[in-house]
Amino acid sequence: MLFDIERARRDTPGTAHVAHLNNAGSALPPSQVTEAVVTHLRREAQIGGYEAAAEAAAQVERTYAAIAQLLGCAPDDVAVVENATRAWDMAFYAMTFRPGDRILTSRAEYASNVIAFLQLAARTGAVVEVVDDDEHGQLSVADLRRRLGEGAGQVRLIAITHVPTHGGLVNPAEQVGELSRDAEVPFLLDACQSMGQLAVNVEAIGCDLLSATGRKFLRAPRGTGFLYVRPSILDQLEPPFLDLHAATWTAPDRYVVRPDARRFENWETNVAAKIGLGVAVDYALSWGLAAIEKRVTALAEGLRERLNGLDGVQVHDRGARRCGIVTFTVDGVGAQDVHRRLTDRRVNTSVSRAEQARFDLPGRGLPDLVRASVHYYNTEDELDRLVGAVPAPVVSA
Ligand SMILES: Cc1ncc(COP(=O)(O)O)c(C=O)c1O
Repeated sequence: MLFDIERARRDTPGTAHVAHLNNAGSALPPSQVTEAVVTHLRREAQIGGYEAAAEAAAQVERTYAAIAQLLGCAPDDVAVVENATRAWDMAFYAMTFRPGDRILTSRAEYASNVIAFLQLAARTGAVVEVVDDDEHGQLSVADLRRRLGEGAGQVRLIAITHVPTHGGLVNPAEQVGELSRDAEVPFLLDACQSMGQLAVNVEAIGCDLLSATGRKFLRAPRGTGFLYVRPSILDQLEPPFLDLHAATWTAPDRYVVRPDARRFENWETNVAAKIGLGVAVDYALSWGLAAIEKRVTALAEGLRERLNGLDGVQVHDRGARRCGIVTFTVDGVGAQDVHRRLTDRRVNTSVSRAEQARFDLPGRGLPDLVRASVHYYNTEDELDRLVGAVPAPVVSA
């Protein structure tokens, strides 16, 4: 089936202004999302914030149901929070660690997650282990299996990133899920960069916890994110923060924590953005995630081919399976300079800094990378524009 690009671009006013290849940063929202957010903000101004929220209760509930449909879970398994980091932190800091407990993670892990590992390791005596990559540059399932089967200390958690912020790799989450189930070790998946560009189903993957953001490939407003929690693990998790939304004050000296995933939320929220998140998820569902994945993957491959054809340009994406993120360097020209030059020509990209990917890029001898990330509303012409604007390499004498 052909993807209706014209409709996608008509729905996306930003495409008239810029070649937006920074969808891994924050994608252009469809006008349906912007409308929903602005309509709710206007209503808050007209009748009051609490009153507008009461009026929009069904829309807010739809956000949970839409996310549940996207993930293949129940609405009660979803918490809506401010961003992916908050979602991930609420899950991670809800776990208890003892000295010697092992946390297994990937080379592709997101910097904020690693900082949290290091903090809890220092606090509790837990140990962080980085699973090797395989010959494709993705997490080695064989090394993970080996580490689960041996080593001193109990493996307490497998926490990996599905798609890294700094490369086109897709880690083999389903195989990790299988191993985690066999070993009965909780599995926390950072799906921040995969939701909205790939079909992601929590049953197929078998993760216990999954964190994601709204603003990237899901095209939702900034300041939105969500956490999936498998019901069977919920009662083992004590949220690091509680309030009168996450728990009920049942007697002067007692409280009871909510029985669903919303125990990881707190009371005050940006209702307009939350509604916008639901509209964005419904919008993605209307295209179909399999169709989105196919188009995004094909566009990204086309961009890699074009970049590979340029003298002095290297593409750095690894993995047996790759997605919509494309990273590259230009010989003799720093990533910031390439990015600036592209921005000047109204081509949006970003820079992935090596210091924020310390388990990965320095070991591969790589500096900062230019990151171009495609979405289904991008066109071949926009890819040509990017490639045409890449500066020539500078060869030192
Ligand atoms: C892989 C990954 N995880 C987590 C995050 C954090 O997401 P947020 O900024 O929504 O907290 C990012 C953001 O770039 C990311 O790329």
